[in-house]
Amino acid sequence: MNEATKAIIKSTAPVLKKHGEDITSVMYGVLFERHPEAKDLFKDAAPDQYKKLANMVYAYAANIDNLGSLQKGIDKVAKIHVDTSILPEHYPWVGEALLEAIRQVLGDAATDEVMDAWTEAYGFLAEVFIAREKELYIAS
Ligand code: HEM
Repeated sequence: MNEATKAIIKSTAPVLKKHGEDITSVMYGVLFERHPEAKDLFKDAAPDQYKKLANMVYAYAANIDNLGSLQKGIDKVAKIHVDTSILPEHYPWVGEALLEAIRQVLGDAATDEVMDAWTEAYGFLAEVFIAREKELYIAS
């Protein structure tokens, strides 16, 4: 991710924080509508899990220039994902839904430039999770 992309992502952080609940509800609405099979993965999730994902997306945007500060949180979530049998092929499902939620929440501010930056940034984060989860699956 280059510096220009990071700057765009960071500039969206305050809006994402403000509209965390909208992001959450749009995201899961889109996810379960397009991929009903994902419901099964979430069947034992705590009711507040939904908020946690939106919080992490915000934290990622706010700390995109200091990703080391997220490492502990990423490790913790990766373990939970592995316990829930989350696989690499599930990441595009969440990505699609998250990008749609960001597009709706940002409204007119969701320019092509902003959406391209988020597409790249989500892909980057997904790769970080997938790599960590692969290590955990191999070790288990
Ligand atoms: C970059 C993308 C993702 C982020 C930022 C993310 C973030 C999180 C967070 C913060 C939690 C809560 C952990 C806790 O309880 O402390 C969580 C749990 C969970 N995630 Fe993800 N996640 C991502 C991708 C995915 C994908 C692709 C799936 C599968 C479609 C998924 C399914 C779940 C499930 C089922 C739980 C709850 C597990 C349980 O408590 O039973 N996540 N995720």
